[in-house]
Amino acid sequence: MLTRNRLTGAPRRAVLALLLVASVASAGAAAQEASGATGFGSDWHSWKAGNSVADLASLQRGARDFLNYCNACHSLQYIRYARIGQDLKIPADLLQQFLVPPTRKPTDYIASSMPAEDAVNWFGKEPPDLSLIAQERGADYLYQYLTTFYVDPSRPTGTNNLALDTTAMPDVVSQLEGLKRAVFRTVAVNGASEQVFDHFEPVVPGSLTREQFDGFARDIVNFLDYVAEPAQLHRRALGVWVVLFLLVFTWLAWLLKREYWKDVH
Ligand code: HEC
Repeated sequence: MLTRNRLTGAPRRAVLALLLVASVASAGAAAQEASGATGFGSDWHSWKAGNSVADLASLQRGARDFLNYCNACHSLQYIRYARIGQDLKIPADLLQQFLVPPTRKPTDYIASSMPAEDAVNWFGKEPPDLSLIAQERGADYLYQYLTTFYVDPSRPTGTNNLALDTTAMPDVVSQLEGLKRAVFRTVAVNGASEQVFDHFEPVVPGSLTREQFDGFARDIVNFLDYVAEPAQLHRRALGVWVVLFLLVFTWLAWLLKREYWKDVH
């Protein structure tokens, strides 16, 4: 019986060939990945945030990380701590303990801790309020902004950014991400030569892996996406009930129709 199931001759060779193709393909992918570990980012223009405001855990991490890493300079002037606690289902005691600074109340709007004049003195620019930035710029842009800082000794901050060239914002997440340098190549445009970005190369590793850092950036973008339109959480929750109602209603209508038409031939 067993031998009947054993593959012999042509089918066996076909399976072996398939296995070979599969292993060559996966080795190729692995090699590509390995080379990606040194040079990457040539496709940064098409990087997507891939965030979801339905992911509550991601929003909670984003809130925590925003308050830790961004709130020193950036305010969220249209939202209160308490609203975030309510929307993101963070219990009041945890909110008070971990998110609301000792000098503030849960009902306060989220101001930044830096006086505007100091910011202008230090950065030459006031860090913008970020309440609506996700609507203004879109989530993908924010994600690209947070992930394309690179070392540039010619800048006062020592870093530059692909999404916002000559940005006044320092690379505040370099501890986590590590430092990377941008490799440019020279191309001829109408007779003149121009430097265009080619790829990134890691210089100093950070405390997070590239994947973990991507997750960190995505969580913050997700949080900013929610902050720009907090009602979208409720709208989604409501949407589920609307669809359920429609399904149940359709079923009832169908039952009714069957009842009415049962004697009609
Ligand atoms: C040390 C102060 C400082 C910190 C901390 C900081 N930023 Fe900024 N940020 C700035 C400054 C200054 C600008 C203005 C940059 C410009 O217009 O050149 C800015 C601009 C921005 C912008 C607007 C970019 C644009 O296209 O106009 C975004 C988005 C932003 N920051 C996000 C963040 C996030 C997210 C964090 C936390 C991970 C953060 N920032 C932490 C100083 C800071």
